[in-house]
Amino acid sequence: EKGEFEHFMLKEMFEQPQAIRNTIRGRLDFEMGTAVLSGLDFSERDAAQINRVLVVGCGTSMHAGMVGEYAIEEMAGVNAEVEQAAEFRYRNPIITPNDLVIAISQSGETADTLAAVREARQKGALVAGICNVVGSTIARETGRGVYLHAGPEIGVASTKAFTCQVSVMLMMALKIARTRRLAGHAGTQFARWIQRMPELVEQVLKQNDVIKAVARKYAKCDHAFFIGRGYLFPVALEGALKLKEISYVHAEGYHAAELKHGPIALLEENTPVIALLNNIPGKDKTMGNAEECKARNAPVIAVVSEGDEAVAEGFDDVIVVPDCPPAICPIPTVVALQLLAYHIAAARGCEIDQPRNLAKSVTVE
Ligand code: F6R
Repeated sequence: EKGEFEHFMLKEMFEQPQAIRNTIRGRLDFEMGTAVLSGLDFSERDAAQINRVLVVGCGTSMHAGMVGEYAIEEMAGVNAEVEQAAEFRYRNPIITPNDLVIAISQSGETADTLAAVREARQKGALVAGICNVVGSTIARETGRGVYLHAGPEIGVASTKAFTCQVSVMLMMALKIARTRRLAGHAGTQFARWIQRMPELVEQVLKQNDVIKAVARKYAKCDHAFFIGRGYLFPVALEGALKLKEISYVHAEGYHAAELKHGPIALLEENTPVIALLNNIPGKDKTMGNAEECKARNAPVIAVVSEGDEAVAEGFDDVIVVPDCPPAICPIPTVVALQLLAYHIAAARGCEIDQPRNLAKSVTVE
C-alpha cells in the first residue's frame, strides 16, 4: 500500500535508505575489508581467476551495470564491460571460462536478459544474477547470485531497485578487488562508505522541497539534457530515462564531452541542462561544458557536492548532494534526479505509477 504517499514511486524513493540497508545487511566484513556474498558461491580462488566481467541488462538495470563496470575496473583492475542484453545475445559474443557474466534484472523476467544468461551459460561462462524478485526465472537459471532484498517495486519507473543494484555491484567490486590489488585497509574504508549510503540518501530526501521548487520552474519545458562524466555518466543516462518515462519530457543523457559533437545544436533557452558537477575527477571539465551550455542560453541546473557550492555560481539553479568518493556518488546523486523527475511529472499532471506504453516487466523481446 502507498500509505501516506501519493504514488508508489514516491513511496519507493523514500524507502531507499531502508532498502539499501536490507541489501547490505550482513554482507560487509569490516575486519577483512571485504564483502560476503554467499549467494555468489565462489571461492577466493574462483574470484582470483576471473579475468573479465561482462555485465548485461536493460534500461535502468543496465545503467546500474555501468556503475559496476567502472567500480570493478577501478578497484579490482579487472577488465569489465557492460552490454545491452539484446545486443549481447545476438552478436555471438566471445566468452571464455574465466569470464564472469553478471545479469542484472529487478524482475528477473526480462526476455533479453534471460536470453543473454542462456547464451553465456551455453558458452561456458561463470554466470551470476542480481535480481530483486526471489525465485524469478533469471535468479533460478543463473543458480548463483545476489538478491537485492529491496522489497516489491510497484512503480513502473525503477528507483529503489537501481540504488540497491548499485549497492550490490559495489560490494561485488569490493569482493573481487580484495582478491587482487586492493589493500585490506582500503577495503575497510570502502566498506564503511557503503555502510553510510543509506544516510547519504536520507540527506538528499530531506531536500525534497528544494528539488520540488526547482522542478516546478522547469515543468513546462519539453526538452532537457543531463550531462556527466565518469561515475556520473550512467547517472546522467538514468536521470534522463526517469524524466522521459514519467513526465514525457524529451530528455537526453549524454557524456558531457559528447555534447559538442552534435547535441549542443539543440540547446536554447527552454532546454535546461542538468549538469552533474559533484566533486569527483572530471568536475572541472564538466563545468566547462556547462558554461558552454549557458553561453547558448540554456538554463543550467548544477548538481554539486556539499561544501563545494561555489561551483554552482553563475548557473541558474543548484541541488546540493553529500560529498563522497567517486564510486559512491551515483547513489545520492541519482536520488536527487529521481525526485526531480517525479516533481516535474507531478507538475505536468502525469500518471506517475502507470506511464503510458510501459509495463513493469518486459517479457517479450
Ligand atoms: C526504467 C525501468 C526499465 C527496467 C528494464 C529492465 O525505470 O524500469 O528500464 O529497468 O525494463 O527491467 P528488469 O530490471 O526487471 O530486467
